[in-house]
Amino acid sequence: MQVIETVSGVRNLRGQIKNSVGFVPTMGYLHDGHLALVKRARAETDTVVVSIFVNPTQFDVGEDLVSYPRDLERDLEFLEREKTDIVFVPSNKEMYPSFSTWIDVEGITEKLEGLHRPGHFRGVATVVAKLFNIVQPGRAYFGQKDAQQVLVIKRMVSDLKMNLEIVVVPTVRESDGLAMSSRNVHLSHEERRAATVLFKALSLAEELWRGGEEDADEIRFQMTSLIAGISLASIGYISIANIGTLEEMKIITPPALVSLAVRIGKTRLIDNAILK
Ligand code: PAF
Repeated sequence: MQVIETVSGVRNLRGQIKNSVGFVPTMGYLHDGHLALVKRARAETDTVVVSIFVNPTQFDVGEDLVSYPRDLERDLEFLEREKTDIVFVPSNKEMYPSFSTWIDVEGITEKLEGLHRPGHFRGVATVVAKLFNIVQPGRAYFGQKDAQQVLVIKRMVSDLKMNLEIVVVPTVRESDGLAMSSRNVHLSHEERRAATVLFKALSLAEELWRGGEEDADEIRFQMTSLIAGISLASIGYISIANIGTLEEMKIITPPALVSLAVRIGKTRLIDNAILK
């Protein structure tokens, strides 16, 4: 496994690779969710490249950039075990020396996470486009947990005619249903227990839908009531929306994306499910 810190270093290596390249962009502090992406890339492509870069431009002022968990040594051990070929670990200066070009994906970024985290998707789209330009992968792997991020990246790839395939990998969960996230490390013991309410609310939505409930307001109401019963939880949003446009639905027409953001103590968590 080669660990490279510079854009020119990755470009040099990339120039020598003639077979297929699978790419997994991450912000590090890897967990089984990331490793599922790496495993999938390993199974489907010849050369696996992973990037670890906590991208400052996708954090809003007052967000958790400084406290975002980091442990490069541990990440590299995990990646070595998964037989990763190249790990790109650029510094902020390497990625943003002097910089004035941004990618704005309009429409879908103005909803859900975009409403609550202004500028977030501009930072994500820009850094992912830069990473794609540097690594030149044939396939890039993203987790379904960040459903809106997947939509934004797919839209960018399609609009800008980028020559790669986006592969979406199902959310990996703890045994009690909590979606794996680097931010889970911030949860205290009590908060960790409370955090299962996201999965419980999504499961309730699926159960109501399977039972014949088509009224999105009714499902949102029942999810809200469930979460309101947990004192450590405060709701950012609960959405039942068209899976392509993210327009909120009144009467559910499948497939619909049920997604939510909930603050557990100080930690903001997101999760989603698809009603088929
Ligand atoms: O999902 C993430 O970890 C980040 O948003 C990404 C795609 C690595 C861009 O910084």
